[in-house]
Amino acid sequence: MAVPKNSVWSRDPHTAAKHDLLKKYLQPWAPILLSRHDTITYAEGFSGPGIYTEGEPGSPVIAYEAFADTLQHRPKTIRMVLVEGDKRREVELRSQIARVRGRYADEINRRISVGTYRGECHPTLLEELRTSGCLGDPLFVLLDSYGGPDVPFSLLQELAKHRSTEVMVTFAPGFLTRFAEKNNGHREAGDAAFGGPQWQAVFEQPSSDKFTFLRDQYRDTLHRAGFSHTLYFEMVDEGGRVLYLIFGTSHERGLEKMKDAMWSVDSDHGVRYRDPRDVQQQQLELELEPHTGPLRRILLDYIASSAKGRSVADLRQYTLLETVYRPAQVTPLVRQMRDAKTVSTEPHKVTSETQVVPYVPPPNTGSAHGQGELF
Ligand SMILES: C[S@@+](CC[C@H](N)C(=O)[O-])C[C@H]1O[C@@H](n2cnc3c(N)ncnc32)[C@H](O)[C@@H]1O
Repeated sequence: MAVPKNSVWSRDPHTAAKHDLLKKYLQPWAPILLSRHDTITYAEGFSGPGIYTEGEPGSPVIAYEAFADTLQHRPKTIRMVLVEGDKRREVELRSQIARVRGRYADEINRRISVGTYRGECHPTLLEELRTSGCLGDPLFVLLDSYGGPDVPFSLLQELAKHRSTEVMVTFAPGFLTRFAEKNNGHREAGDAAFGGPQWQAVFEQPSSDKFTFLRDQYRDTLHRAGFSHTLYFEMVDEGGRVLYLIFGTSHERGLEKMKDAMWSVDSDHGVRYRDPRDVQQQQLELELEPHTGPLRRILLDYIASSAKGRSVADLRQYTLLETVYRPAQVTPLVRQMRDAKTVSTEPHKVTSETQVVPYVPPPNTGSAHGQGELF
């Protein structure tokens, strides 16, 4: 997507997918955390104006709606800290927040405090989070720049110091592969974003591997910053440009819920997303990677790597922590693999305790005997 000049711009299909993902994550995130905490915080470092040209809501408004719904039945509070660098957009954002508040009862609005701030994501976001005392409380931070290397590693490190913080960062690998090879300024920006120069090995990768190399480097960056689990969501827009949303958390539950959200962005099509407003759906189809097929192979390799096989509980844990798939996908897949004689299960019924081993065909009882039966 070209960087827009106007204060409000039109929403791309991949932005619609991103918003769907955000909504589907915040809807369970807020109630789960509010069941154990009185206050939680949502923050954005690149908030945008809160609206698109056709009137579609921006991410801060989507978050507000999810939170207002959550608070209908809970006597709790939510804080929103929203930073935007462009003056006109920050003014628009304030008016969009006022507009969405107009749709809810005062009793709900009173319990969602919203601060909008004009400034550079870094250091403004961190300063405002500190001032409002949010660091250390449950905190979800969306860092949704246009995808260039705009989020300093030092910011990620500061956020990750607090175990209850989760981040989602937009990362467009095409910017660095196109512009940074011969431009030292962009290389320095890349170093600041990745926390060192290791990402520059991308220039030695074959073209076909460059994007996945940078994606994995960025996931490693989040790990080094202090987030123990990462997950990515890949989108390809109608111009063929790749954009990653990379999620970092230190909680297995957060990882599980983000996977649920990711896989439900378009449950009808599994790994594909169609913009619902598009009349020619095929043209605007977005692809979410990776595809479902590899889970079977991944599990088979994992099962075969242990002499005694693996329990279904092991396979579920491995799937959660090491793959983009969901633990809920494991049991049906093990049943399918058992029925297709790819694995054997002991006992036959598949429960958490069931042990899974590679299928070994019964020994051949001899061709003479077999042929004898035929005649
Ligand atoms: C991709 S848009 C955000 C869209 C928004 N999150 C949404 O989904 O509706 C990026 C926004 O970041 C703002 N921006 C760009 N550089 C910034 C910076 N260094 N600090 C803060 N905001 C910045 C831009 O003005 C723009 O509004």
